Amino acid sequence: MNTHDFVQKYGINRKDTDSVKWDGMAKSFDGRNDLVPMWVADADFKCPDEAVQAIENFASLGVYGYTLAPQTYKQAFIEWERKRHHYECREEWIRFVPGVVSGIYIIIKALTNPGDAVIIQTPVYYPFSDAVKNTRRKLITNELVDNNGRYEMNLDDFEQKIIENDVKLYILCSPHNPVARVWSEQELDRVFDICIKHNVTIIADEIHQDLIFGDHKHITSPIVSQGKYSDSIIMLTSASKTFNIAGLQNSFLVTASIELGEKIDEELKYDAIHTGNPFGYRAAEAAYRYGESWLEDFLKVIEENYQSLKMILSQDGRIHVYPLEGTYLCWVDLRECVFPDDVHRVVQDIAGVAVDFGEWFGDCGKGFIRINLATIPERVQDVGKRLLNAIDA
Ligand SMILES: Cc1ncc(COP(=O)(O)O)c(C=O)c1O
Repeated sequence: MNTHDFVQKYGINRKDTDSVKWDGMAKSFDGRNDLVPMWVADADFKCPDEAVQAIENFASLGVYGYTLAPQTYKQAFIEWERKRHHYECREEWIRFVPGVVSGIYIIIKALTNPGDAVIIQTPVYYPFSDAVKNTRRKLITNELVDNNGRYEMNLDDFEQKIIENDVKLYILCSPHNPVARVWSEQELDRVFDICIKHNVTIIADEIHQDLIFGDHKHITSPIVSQGKYSDSIIMLTSASKTFNIAGLQNSFLVTASIELGEKIDEELKYDAIHTGNPFGYRAAEAAYRYGESWLEDFLKVIEENYQSLKMILSQDGRIHVYPLEGTYLCWVDLRECVFPDDVHRVVQDIAGVAVDFGEWFGDCGKGFIRINLATIPERVQDVGKRLLNAIDA
């Protein structure tokens, strides 16, 4: 399907649907609920038809009692991982978690004690730092560095901070939200090598694993260097970003390590997490089985949205739009044209746009914004023009 047809068929007005992005912005944007919503990471497109059909079929039963995960659910995920990520995931490596963020909390609690140090790489998805702080662990930040307009890991600082703070756990974001990097195998190999050397366990948040552009290749953490590190990795992923079904609350926790798996099982018992939402199981399974062409079309829309936003914003030579290697989240540096303290006023008050402000991802993000591209092209173009005009004003 071409992008025009995809947008016509799946694009939807989500206003007044209790969408967090559309109807829940007042809390984060000074009481305003009239901004153009380009923040929360979900999409303004209906999910694949087969996922809707699977939900309708289950809904028509009329009985929603305690429900097992369908036998075929994990199998659909395993097949997807094999096909898209060249990874042979075994059934016994998979645990259910409601969300990737709740998975992070579960792993932190299962593997560390209050006061233990956990390292993250900022700017990064802010629930990572919340999870560390809310579980009373010590937050250690290792800033990514901008090398000629592309972010890289600062591994010397990473290793030094691990040693100095006796770090126990590392939370990797792969692909990385918000800087849209798809880490190469070599980069992952190097960072994992440091972790292993210092007995640091790795949480790999791969929720954006299927949103990859151009020639970039997502390398799922358990297969880096032919699986050399897989005993020290717990990978988290979901069909939620891939197929826009985040509200259904079904995610996967994967580890090849028997020892880590047992600790996770203990924690899951302790947290009384047993089974997921039956609607979510069915939607995820149907999407994995039948949604691949929907995903390919969705990615084309994102790619075009990125190109058009970049073209509009580059009319002001002082705005830097980072390459979109993965995710549908575009990272933009406004520091050359807007004083960092003025970004909220310019973007929110003058342009009338709700974005994720850079400092939400860590102090080093101040002066940047993150724009969600998973919406109709007209809205992306409108937002580009609004930002240009507001910066001019
Ligand atoms: C990197 C990353 N991890 C996790 C999540 C949220 O996952 P969940 O809704 O499954 O908790 C997001 C959502 O934006 C994300 O970008």
